[in-house]
Amino acid sequence: MSDTSVYTRKLPRHVAIIMDGNGRWARKRGLPRFAGHKAGMDSVRAVVKVCLSQGIECLTLFAFSSENWRRPVEEVGLLMNLFMAALDMEVRKLHKHGVRLRIIGERSAFAPELQQRIAAAEQLTVDNTALTLIIAANYGGRWDITQATRQLSAEVARGDLQADAITQELIESRLSLSGMPEPDFFIRTGGEQRISNFLLWQLAYTELYFTDLLWPEFDDAAFAEALKSFATRQRRFGRTGEQVEKMLDA
Ligand code: IPE
Ligand code: IPE
Ligand code: MG
Repeated sequence: MSDTSVYTRKLPRHVAIIMDGNGRWARKRGLPRFAGHKAGMDSVRAVVKVCLSQGIECLTLFAFSSENWRRPVEEVGLLMNLFMAALDMEVRKLHKHGVRLRIIGERSAFAPELQQRIAAAEQLTVDNTALTLIIAANYGGRWDITQATRQLSAEVARGDLQADAITQELIESRLSLSGMPEPDFFIRTGGEQRISNFLLWQLAYTELYFTDLLWPEFDDAAFAEALKSFATRQRRFGRTGEQVEKMLDA
């Protein structure tokens, strides 16, 4: 690691967020859980806006996990409808602001119509460079590593790849976030302190931030507060603090 900027960066390049607490937010108000998911859309808009104004390159949002299919069928249906409606209503605006949209996760489980809209949104925004917005939908970290393993195994079986040529970089190149900078800042709202099968490989050296705020409460001020915490951290990547300081002085 010769690029010392990874130690000094005051602003993350890639923020990954577990947007949790929508259901509890609604319950506190005597509303159905779905009202919380809807209210959470305002927080999505707020963080996207901050990323654009600050010049953060990449934002990954966990919208639906591979385990969320276990929820009541009505809630799953409403979440799918919300996803579809958001694609319809927001994509044009995102495109206008130069946002590139990418969806990661096992999309074959979605209705064909939703799959089509996802592909169309990605296609429309493919050349945009202001911000890459990645939505993790039917995503699981274990699924991601499994699908990468499957790809590489097929190449070995075909004789296109030697098993001992498999390196960390090669595995990374087959994971869902390939080509993106590594997430350097992770945020989870809703008070839970766990990863819930989000980006398992990619979070290896990410700075973690947990807040009790429920996702619909997470606004631009809350995001600014989180970014302030990131700016104070000394990233060491296995080195000692003294080594890092010396490298930065040099
Ligand atoms: C996160 O909020 C959104 C999704 C998982 C889709 P929750 O729905 O998990 O909200 P809580 O955790 O029940 O409050
Ligand atoms: C994680 O939230 C997934 C998303 C935010 C999409 P959950 O609410 O599903 O996580 P657990 O089950 O409480 O760990
Ligand atoms: Mg939850």
